[in-house]
Amino acid sequence: MGVSLRKALTDVSGEIDRRFDTLLAVPDDARADLYRAMRHAAIGGGKRLRPLLVFATANLFAVDRDCAARVAMAIEAIHVYSLIHDDLPAMDDDDMRRGKPTVHKVYGEAAAILAGDCLHALAFEVLADPATHPDPFVRAELILDLAHASGPSGMAGGQMMDLEAEKSTFDLSTVTRLQAMKTGALISASVEAGAILGRVPVEGRTGLRGYARDLGLAFQIADDLLDAEGDEALAGKKLRKDAGAGKETFLSLLGAERAREQARMLVDQAVQHLHTYGSEADLLRAIARFVLERDR
Ligand code: IPE
Ligand code: IPE
Ligand code: MG
Ligand code: MG
Ligand code: MG
Repeated sequence: MGVSLRKALTDVSGEIDRRFDTLLAVPDDARADLYRAMRHAAIGGGKRLRPLLVFATANLFAVDRDCAARVAMAIEAIHVYSLIHDDLPAMDDDDMRRGKPTVHKVYGEAAAILAGDCLHALAFEVLADPATHPDPFVRAELILDLAHASGPSGMAGGQMMDLEAEKSTFDLSTVTRLQAMKTGALISASVEAGAILGRVPVEGRTGLRGYARDLGLAFQIADDLLDAEGDEALAGKKLRKDAGAGKETFLSLLGAERAREQARMLVDQAVQHLHTYGSEADLLRAIARFVLERDR
């Protein structure tokens, strides 16, 4: 990983941690454990890839950093909620996440479900707040896009298909659609949010959308490769789950070598989509390469 990408990831992690720390101050009442559960999941862990994508895209268009940071936190809140629920016994039934016990292991299932619900709601509260952008049309577009990316046509719909992928045989185009929804949608929303904040007209977003789509697919193939070949201590979560669950993934369909080749091709393609940008898009290019090399 290059020095500037490492620094960008560290800076963004610090910024997101500080913002969650303020947003999720523990109240002195019966909701204390709900807040503790949210803090456990949201603070001090994760790569913060989606927030970095918001910043890296917003920086192309000289967006105010505080606006970008609020949007980055909102999208990370949706991602963290999706992880809390993904780990529940009813879904992947996992005990470890980001190197710590999962939320339901520490606070119980009810608090974990509610912590997810709250992070979901807070994401939209943050976006709707005038502090996020003075123009209500920009705020509405941010909300519309994130809602679409999170719901039945995006992450949650993809999660449902992912559960089905343990029971059915899916072909490559169905697995591609599943992955584009469960993982790709939030990654695309992160890049799109930077463009929305930058007031880029829709016809000017084609390259960024192509970049995000290919990056999202490569990212999930890398997650599946990590599941098959990674180191649990580095990844901070339980691995070797997909094959045992009989889950249809790029790996089950193509084998590790061809899946890796596919991911490499997608990363190259993602970078090519940025050809109209100069060195100002180097961080986006570095993120694309990082997605393949990552060990966590
Ligand atoms: C894990 O996402 C779940 C997937 C969508 C594959 P990340 O790999 O981004 O997890 P964190 O945020 O770094 O923990
Ligand atoms: C989860 O995918 C994607 C989400 C939307 C949370 P996985 O189930 O493969 O993610 P990990 O491997 O548990 O992080
Ligand atoms: Mg899952
Ligand atoms: Mg999982
Ligand atoms: Mg996985």
